[in-house]
Amino acid sequence: MRLLWATDLHLEFTDDFLFQRFLSLLASTPCDAIVLTGDISSGRSLKQHLLRLASAVKSTPVYVVLGNHDFYHSSFAQVGAVMDEVCATVEAPNLNELGHGEIIPLGEHSALIGHRGWGDGRGGLGIGSDVELNDFRLISDLHSDTKRQLFAKLKALGKASANYFRETLPKALAQYNHVWIATHVPPFECAAWHEGANSDPEYLPHFSNVSAGEAIREIAERYPEKRVTVLCGHTHSSGTAFPAPNIRVLTGGAVYGSPRIAAVLNPDDLAEWNAPGTHR
Ligand SMILES: [Fe+2]
Ligand SMILES: [Fe+2]
Repeated sequence: MRLLWATDLHLEFTDDFLFQRFLSLLASTPCDAIVLTGDISSGRSLKQHLLRLASAVKSTPVYVVLGNHDFYHSSFAQVGAVMDEVCATVEAPNLNELGHGEIIPLGEHSALIGHRGWGDGRGGLGIGSDVELNDFRLISDLHSDTKRQLFAKLKALGKASANYFRETLPKALAQYNHVWIATHVPPFECAAWHEGANSDPEYLPHFSNVSAGEAIREIAERYPEKRVTVLCGHTHSSGTAFPAPNIRVLTGGAVYGSPRIAAVLNPDDLAEWNAPGTHR
């Protein structure tokens, strides 16, 4: 079983030549399933990019969680409707959005779950941060009159992902030795890399999902003999973090305009635990 992972493709910044070249690379890389951990495109172009990607890899299942950029120039409800439509179309029978309770068997001993998550505003300086993301202007649900109102929305988004993992992760760990979690924002501050170091406390409120990390840690502690690997992106700098002995977080790197494969992983192979694939 080979799981191909890519993150932060940002196809909205990729010209057609490079997009086609990336699709050829995807189609010619041997794998049994593909997982994309968000920021695939922007709200306006997500549908056409996903349809082209899914059809390029033919029958290989593609599992998707969205990232903040996938909602740009749109809203949660509008993009949700787009995802329902593209995942139901006969043009892309292999396309699946994670986050609806599914536990996808990967190998004999491993399975995949996922939820997009969100930067929940709790990391680093919290509400004391003065960082202003484009998210707050370009996603209509995040338009807010006050900073307090905005941070309440971010906190609620993080909590929704935490609740999801509290519900789904125990079910997956009860059945499988190694559970892979796909999410967009690193769920631990220590996994929010920036050029080889931890992200600045100014950025950590938006580069980490503390609520989801609390949930994952709490549940993983109840299954010390089992393992959890988180695949995420968002910070565009790669790194591996071990927030607990049985939790590993792989954060994928990215460059705008240059989509890449983060790694091809063997989900059942625990020998890779300390040397995860070829991710950059
Ligand atoms: Fe991104
Ligand atoms: Fe992102």
